[in-house]
Amino acid sequence: MRFDLETAPANVAYKLLVGLVAPRPIALITSMDEHGRINAAPFSAYNYLCTDPPIVGIGVTDRPGEDRVPKDTARNIRRTGEFVVNVVTEDIAEQMNICATDFPHGVSEVEMAGLTTAPSQVVKPPRIAEAHAALECREHTTMEIGRSRIILGRVVSVYVDDRFIDAEGPYVKAEELHAIGRMNGLGNYARTRDAFLVIPRVPYKEWKKSHS
Ligand SMILES: Cc1cc2nc3c(=O)[nH]c(=O)nc-3n(C[C@H](O)[C@H](O)[C@H](O)COP(=O)(O)O)c2cc1C
Repeated sequence: MRFDLETAPANVAYKLLVGLVAPRPIALITSMDEHGRINAAPFSAYNYLCTDPPIVGIGVTDRPGEDRVPKDTARNIRRTGEFVVNVVTEDIAEQMNICATDFPHGVSEVEMAGLTTAPSQVVKPPRIAEAHAALECREHTTMEIGRSRIILGRVVSVYVDDRFIDAEGPYVKAEELHAIGRMNGLGNYARTRDAFLVIPRVPYKEWKKSHS
């Protein structure tokens, strides 16, 4: 089957892309408004884009409806310029999902989800204390494209629970972290527990030998 995304409605593009670009990491983003109120929400249109400099990208769609109202996360980042990406692991998956609930204005998602916060090292918004790793970010750019905002954040500080880091590398013990990934939409996720594949890179010399 073929789909022409230049003419298809936005929900067709959404369904195809979230099904095909998967699994996706999940950023549980903490941000602050200009009055210091903390907001938390998950985003799976998320990845790191480069490491020199260290940049992550997040795609935030405006709230559903005709008028282009940004989600609190995108608005806070534009106004205060800082945010924290909390890494979502199996043990905080349910809490992360509660943070996506459209609570009325003024209700704290962090509190509703039974999560707590801990101060960040460099930026004002706190990290989620229950998350085992967090990336502190400063807004580099927000691009407004149609009904979406693409946020590029420069990572300025990284927190990882000691037990998940091999300080020599430093390497993240990803097999032990049990991060989860987003599959499609509609409440579908993938585990990474006992799911690792190791496929070493093949230098051309070796490849040639095995093909001669
Ligand atoms: C796992 C998961 C991933 C999500 N990913 C995105 C995303 O990439 N972009 C987006 O706009 N909304 C995404 N959402 C929906 C937002 O989390 C939701 O709209 C949230 O209420 C926004 O909160 P805010 O207004 O406090 O920023 C996702 C929800 C879940 C549960």
